[in-house]
Amino acid sequence: MDKLKILITFFSNTGNTEKVASSMKDGLTDHDVDMIAVKDVAPKTLNSYDIVFLGSGVYASRIDKSVLTLVKKAVPDLPSKLVYFCTHASLKLYQEPFKRINNIAKEHNCEIIGKFDCVGENLGIPLETQLGMLEKLPEDQKEKAIKDMEKMKGRPNELDLENAKNFATSLMKNL
Ligand SMILES: Cc1cc2nc3c(=O)[nH]c(=O)nc-3n(C[C@H](O)[C@H](O)[C@H](O)COP(=O)(O)O)c2cc1C
Repeated sequence: MDKLKILITFFSNTGNTEKVASSMKDGLTDHDVDMIAVKDVAPKTLNSYDIVFLGSGVYASRIDKSVLTLVKKAVPDLPSKLVYFCTHASLKLYQEPFKRINNIAKEHNCEIIGKFDCVGENLGIPLETQLGMLEKLPEDQKEKAIKDMEKMKGRPNELDLENAKNFATSLMKNL
């Protein structure tokens, strides 16, 4: 396969999504990859890439606004292929954090060729505050929520990062 020009760009408040971005880059060694934080990407450069990976943590069920702004500013010169990735503090991704970008992508015939998500421990809200937020829950729900929080400690972990790397590698093989 020809060497592709790929951009991996991301917003990461506490580093979880950046770790995933790095692992994806490790999975794309056959290609020419730039990994650049969203704030440092010039919107008009997006369509100079064959594929753009867009990543963000999930905050209040959405990706960070800076990622959406980057895409909006790039219109109408969007790349032909996008990949989404995110990290979130729910054991299952139940939100649709890229919904607004999806609408823009559809309007501009930009294909979403892959999506990846994994758990990222919530390091942005102090533990006491998180526990305080559970106080009003019925006892059984509170216990479950605390157990779920335990399962998120240290995530993304080695396995999550290996999955991110393999995701990127196999995505290119299946193009
Ligand atoms: C203010 C705030 C809001 C959050 N909102 C959500 C949310 O709505 N859903 C969710 O699953 N995780 C939520 N999280 C957890 C983050 O998505 C998760 O920890 C993610 O890995 C952070 O990525 P980052 O380290 O790249 O910033 C929130 C975290 C913070 C700090």
